[in-house]
Amino acid sequence: MTKQATAAPVPFLDLKVQFAALERELRPALDEVLTNTAFVLGPAVQRFEAAFAAYCGVQHCVGLNSGTSALHVALLCLGVGAGDEVIMPAMSFIATAWPVLYLGAKPVFVDIDPRRYTLDPAKLAAAITKRTKAIIPVHLYGQCADMDPILRIAAEHGIPVIEDAAQAHGATYRGRKAGALGRMACFSFYPGKNLGAYGEGGAVTTNDAELADLARQYRDHGQKTRYVHERLGFNYRMDGFQGAVLGVKLRHLDSWNAGRRRAAALYDQRLADTGVTTPAPCRDGDHVYHIYAIRTPRREELRAILQESGVGTNLHYPIPIHLQKPFAACGYGPGSFPVSEELGQTELSLPMYAELTPEQIDRVAGVIRSATR
Ligand SMILES: Cc1ncc(COP(=O)(O)O)c(C=O)c1O
Repeated sequence: MTKQATAAPVPFLDLKVQFAALERELRPALDEVLTNTAFVLGPAVQRFEAAFAAYCGVQHCVGLNSGTSALHVALLCLGVGAGDEVIMPAMSFIATAWPVLYLGAKPVFVDIDPRRYTLDPAKLAAAITKRTKAIIPVHLYGQCADMDPILRIAAEHGIPVIEDAAQAHGATYRGRKAGALGRMACFSFYPGKNLGAYGEGGAVTTNDAELADLARQYRDHGQKTRYVHERLGFNYRMDGFQGAVLGVKLRHLDSWNAGRRRAAALYDQRLADTGVTTPAPCRDGDHVYHIYAIRTPRREELRAILQESGVGTNLHYPIPIHLQKPFAACGYGPGSFPVSEELGQTELSLPMYAELTPEQIDRVAGVIRSATR
């Protein structure tokens, strides 16, 4: 591999361009929160919840303070507790699995599909036991998991499905949106997400009024009426500023996702014949490319060359969850999930955001082309 001469840097993520474009819309929305002093929950959060539920095509959205809280709340709502098992892919951000440990339950990992990178439905049934209480497919990188077979197998066993849609705001699967595919869905609004807050944020969505009501209690100290605590509770409330920011940004999500798809299509084209593996085409819905993931066995070398050339990259995720120390007690080891492990060793995330210009994409692809020549 040879290094290309340096030119304008391309950061992995650039939140400043987006802010500059939105500043005039955002400031009045933030001012309103300042003026009405609704800093926790309040009207801006309620408006966002209603708008996001409508966007996803569900009845209810409950705003929370992170995606990790959302997963915790969803498991609580579905009654997961000590000794239960929860099935999920071995390859995801670690937060998919944390709440299972919080509850004293056991994560049961399943390998991913080698092209889609999401939970492999062909391996799901074998992981189900009498103790399985939930299945969490993850819409990794912005593409929905192959939900039809997952939902069919889950229904055959009477097990609820919780979508981890933290990376898939606006993604679709056979005409339906992420967030509307399972019994409940969990979103993160961490700033770098396709729909990102200006701080921490998350939400659960569902069509089940009882589950939504429970989620509202869990997020707010287990209370339905002030100071009457019905159950164990948490402080997982969304703050007013995040509701205001998300309300403004939601209006732009579809055009940003379209921008990401354009950027991905250009990468696909420019990287053809370079020897790196580009994402497989998404044939059953809209991919929203939270992450543009390529694969190459010479990942470290290519990453170093890109870095020297001023191109930011990232890895999602170098160590699958079953090989992380806090999950050692689950009893898995190297070789347990070969597809996830191979992805961990070969995946490289290229710069991806709606504002990425064709020139920037050409530049990234040019460095890769000359490095792999
Ligand atoms: C797949 C996935 N699940 C869960 C989370 C957790 O979300 P948060 O960081 O908002 O707690 C994230 C994002 O960070 C994620 O990417």
